[in-house]
Amino acid sequence: MKTIHVDTGRPYDVLIGNGLIEDCGKLIREKNAARKDAVKAAVISDDKVWELYGEKVTESLRSAGFETLKLVLPNGEESKNTDNLISVLEFLAENEFTRSDLIAALGGGVVGDLAGFAAAVMLRGVDFIQIPTTLLACVDSSVGGKTAVDLRAGKNLAGAFHQPRLVICDLDVLDSLPEETFKDGSAEVIKYGVLADPRLFEHLMDKGLEFNREYVVSRCIEIKRDVVNEDEFDTGKRRLLNLGHTLAHAAEQLSSYKLSHGKAVAIGMSVFSAAAASYGICDRLTAERIREAVKRFGLPCDTDYSAEELYEVMLRDKKRNGSSISIVLPEKIGRCIIKKMDIAELEDFIRAGL
Ligand SMILES: NC(=O)c1ccc[n+]([C@@H]2O[C@H](COP(=O)([O-])OP(=O)(O)OC[C@H]3O[C@@H](n4cnc5c(N)ncnc54)[C@H](O)[C@@H]3O)[C@@H](O)[C@H]2O)c1
Ligand SMILES: [Zn+2]
Repeated sequence: MKTIHVDTGRPYDVLIGNGLIEDCGKLIREKNAARKDAVKAAVISDDKVWELYGEKVTESLRSAGFETLKLVLPNGEESKNTDNLISVLEFLAENEFTRSDLIAALGGGVVGDLAGFAAAVMLRGVDFIQIPTTLLACVDSSVGGKTAVDLRAGKNLAGAFHQPRLVICDLDVLDSLPEETFKDGSAEVIKYGVLADPRLFEHLMDKGLEFNREYVVSRCIEIKRDVVNEDEFDTGKRRLLNLGHTLAHAAEQLSSYKLSHGKAVAIGMSVFSAAAASYGICDRLTAERIREAVKRFGLPCDTDYSAEELYEVMLRDKKRNGSSISIVLPEKIGRCIIKKMDIAELEDFIRAGL
């Protein structure tokens, strides 16, 4: 088992290894991730994940002395809404959940974001732990303390910064993921290689989907940790994690979310690196390597949307700042920059990448 320490306002550990969920209760106790006087542990999950791992987690929590509560939501992004947030809060209140008790988020990013937000606002903040079950949740959403639900006007529009007390990444649970979901998470993994680690990038090129999970998941979390440690509240450096995401969000919206997030990020990284190459920010070879990596994972690197369509949607991006927008671009594999670009230049820039 590997341990990565995250040094945010309230520090915590991320545990990475095999067979960890069977021991989650014990690990929570050992890591003092629950208060000594905690009585209840409320497991929040989705129907698919619950069926696979709910009993194991509950069993383990019970044997560590917790009384368990269970709340299962339908799987999928549609569940990440304000109605479900309120249902979770009402459920906890009805079950006399106290400030000493603990929430355990068992699932992908949807469950983690919603349960985390519930933990942030329940009784003005209660302890929660993340037990991520998708690759994306392991390397991205479970670490860093961003929690949210979607509003009708857009994704993640209501949320809070609330760090978990512990993150338990059991690599075995990734075995049951549908290949498409695993591939989607891989787009984020490639992102970390491009952002900060040429060696990680080369490993991914070499192994493709058969990459060494412990090494890769750990490296991604370390990279995210380093960025989050410097910028917990997302006012500067943390924006680097948006590599590929500005264009991805636009493509996802244009497709009415039929295009998956991972595929959109893959396209976003490919198109923006090609554009960066033609503007001399990185060399052609770098852009080419990024496209190759994306292809190696069976992810798309092109889109049929036009520069004009993508630009129109990006104008509404929340990272936009008056007349400029911040975009993340590679200088080389392992090093990226945040570039402030005039909105007026953006359409041509996208066109250069298509
Ligand atoms: N908080 C953050 O910093 C952050 C970062 C990135 C993404 N996110 C959010 O994460 C969400 C996406 O997360 P996701 O990609 O994990 O999606 P998800 O939570 O919807 O999970 C994807 C699907 O996989 C299923 N699943 C999960 N684990 C499984 C397993 N082990 N075996 C079989 N099936 C399993 C789920 O039931 C679901 O159907 C989005 O809402 C996004 O906004 C948050
Ligand atoms: Zn992402």
